This record gives sequence, C-alpha cells and structure tokens, in this order.
Amino acid sequence: MSEKLKVAIVGAGQVAEKVHAAYYLTRPDLELVAVVDTTAERANDFAARLGIPHAFADAQAMYQQCQPDIVSVCSPNRFHHQNVLQALANGCHVMCEKPPAMTPEQAAEMRDAARRAGKVLAYDFHHRFALDTQLLREQVIAGTLGEIYVTNAKALRRCGVPGWGVFTNKELQGGGPLIDIGIHMLDAAMYVLGFPAVRRVTAHTFQKLGTRKHSGQFGEWDPKTYTVEDAVFATLEFHNGGILRLETSFALNIVPQSVMSVEFCGDNAGASLFPAHIYQDEGGELVTLMQREKADDNRHFNSMKAFVDHVQGAPVSIADAEQGYLIQQLVAAIYQAAEQGTSVDIC
Ligand SMILES: NC(=O)c1ccc[n+]([C@@H]2O[C@H](COP(=O)([O-])OP(=O)(O)OC[C@H]3O[C@@H](n4cnc5c(N)ncnc54)[C@H](O)[C@@H]3O)[C@@H](O)[C@H]2O)c1
Repeated sequence: MSEKLKVAIVGAGQVAEKVHAAYYLTRPDLELVAVVDTTAERANDFAARLGIPHAFADAQAMYQQCQPDIVSVCSPNRFHHQNVLQALANGCHVMCEKPPAMTPEQAAEMRDAARRAGKVLAYDFHHRFALDTQLLREQVIAGTLGEIYVTNAKALRRCGVPGWGVFTNKELQGGGPLIDIGIHMLDAAMYVLGFPAVRRVTAHTFQKLGTRKHSGQFGEWDPKTYTVEDAVFATLEFHNGGILRLETSFALNIVPQSVMSVEFCGDNAGASLFPAHIYQDEGGELVTLMQREKADDNRHFNSMKAFVDHVQGAPVSIADAEQGYLIQQLVAAIYQAAEQGTSVDIC
C-alpha cells in the first residue's frame, strides 16, 4: 500500500472524538498524527485517550511539526472560518463541521481559498449521506416523484435546548435551532431536490420559551443568557415555482418530543425521510412504491467515508464548499427576513 495520509484534528470536543477520530481510526490508509485544542489540557487528554502521538494548543506549531495531509475542523462555529483558512494555507484537505461559518461572506472566502489551493473542502452535513437520502435522490433523478412542488423540512424539539456547550449563545454560535439542527434538514432537502435556485425567502423567528424555562430533555440552561431564537418558520420560493417550508425549534409546544423529517410532494408521487418512504395515491388509497423499515444510522461515518474516498480520488460526491456556501446564504437570508419582517430576494 502507498504511504498513509497524515490526519490532524482541530478542536478536541465530542464530535471530534465520537465521529472524526473514531472514523479515521478505522482506516488503514490514514494515520491520525495530531490534535489541536486552544485548551492544552483538552488536547493532551484527547491524544492520551485515543493514542494520538502529538497534542498542541497552537495550530501553526502543529502544521510546522506534523505537516498533515488532511485536517478535521471541529472547533466551535465561530472559529471554523479561521481554522479552515489556516488548514488550506498549510496545504491540507479539510473536513469542517457544520455550519460552514458564521456568514455567507466567510463561507465564500473558504470556498475560494479551497479552489485556489486545489484542495478538497467538505462539510459534515451527514443526513444527506444516510442511505435513505441517497436512495431518494436516485428516485428523484429517475423521475419517480415527477415535479416536486412542495417540500416540508422539520427539525423540531418540544423542549430540547442543549444544556451544554455554547448552543444558547448567539455571539459564539451564530444562532439557535436553525444553525444547529434545522440546517441538517435544510441540507438534506436541498440535496434531494438537486439544489434548485432560490428566488425569495420569508421567515419568522420566535424567542418565547428559552428565556422563560430552564430545563428540558437535554439538561439545564440559564434563561438569562439565552440569546438565540427557540423556533424558526421559513419559506423558500424556488425559481422553478416550488416551495420549501422549514420548521425548526429547540422549544415549541408540540406533541412529539422531536421530529427530524423531510416530506417531498411531487405531481406523480410523494416521499418522506427518515426512513425513506415513497408513495402514491390510487383512487384515494395509499400505495407504497418503496419503504425502508428503519433509517440508516451509519450516516455520520458515511459522510466521513465520502470525504476521505473523495480525497483519495474516488468518484464519490461530498457536501462541497459551494453547497456549504449556498446553505450559509439561505441561513443568513432566513434570519434577515425574520428580522426585517419582509421577504429577502436571493437572485
Ligand atoms: N454534524 C453534526 O451533527 C454535529 C454534531 C455535534 C457538533 N457539531 C459541530 O461540531 C463543532 C464542535 O461541536 P462539539 O459539540 O464537538 O463542541 P465541544 O464544545 O465538545 O468541542 C469544541 C472544542 O473546540 C475547542 N476550541 C475552542 N476554540 C478553538 C479554536 N479556536 N481552535 C481549536 N479548538 C478550539 C474547545 O476547547 C473544545 O474542546 C461545532 O461546530 C458543532 O456545530 C456537528
């Protein structure tokens, strides 16, 4: 076998350990050589736990000493931009956690830097890598659904404000449920639809419960420092005449504790995720065309695999830098439309 590619991780938190490092350690063609965290103790503990030879508090020192080929950026959202640009400047292919950045301008700069460097920049929008999503995309391309004119994407929690990390801090996180969970269903929906061009966005955000309550399904938070929205309702209008409605919440008085789903309504058939189900109506009776019993829960590793295989030259698609930019642009437009109380034209 040819020489192993060297991998480093920037940001030694939970997603870095459970997903990125866990996946890289399964690949015989990779060698996990270094971890960086601005808190030196976290980098040291992470390296010790996973048997990684080098730990750093300073990323540039890591690049100089270890010269990795691949870098995973798993720092908090606010630092994705600078960490990705630094990795690209040091000649690395990059897998960056979602959301791509804090603004579309940053995401565009990251995309352009990757193009100039001739390196792969992928984002971990892993729901599109579930087998369910992939199968559905194939059926959409094959025309099974016909013209899809209404899409409903939902990432809802009844009382699921994260009680850890910086998820309730708008300055550090960039937003609430839209940035954290809604963005996954938005990406999965846009992927299945083939990223149709968006014409206009309207949206409403609410902050009704996060500032009043203090505990829920995912522990406790401080309502006094809760600065993000707790629910978003948005409509995207496409140039092709279709619409996508997105609903997402950390807290909302609904019956199910959580919903992660996308529904596609075509003029020939309908479909839903997750799991994948494709159906039709025949004289008022529901007819199933395809149904998976259980959603693919290997999607996170599938996303990592697509990235590494792509870097290794395999013809597999990734959640690429241009699509990351488009998603970031939609997130910004949704917040802008909600803040202004008017629709926002995209192009
Ligand atoms: N794809 C997914 O489903 C998914 C799931 C969880 C988290 N995430 C994303 O992963 C990222 C990290 O989330 P997490 O839950 O692992 O957070 P975490 O708080 O567990 O870990 C973040 C780590 O980054 C370190 N850090 C802070 N600033 C840094 C910097 N400038 N450079 C390097 N390291 C720095 C922190 O000390 C911490 O150890 C976030 O962007 C989050 O949105 C994505």
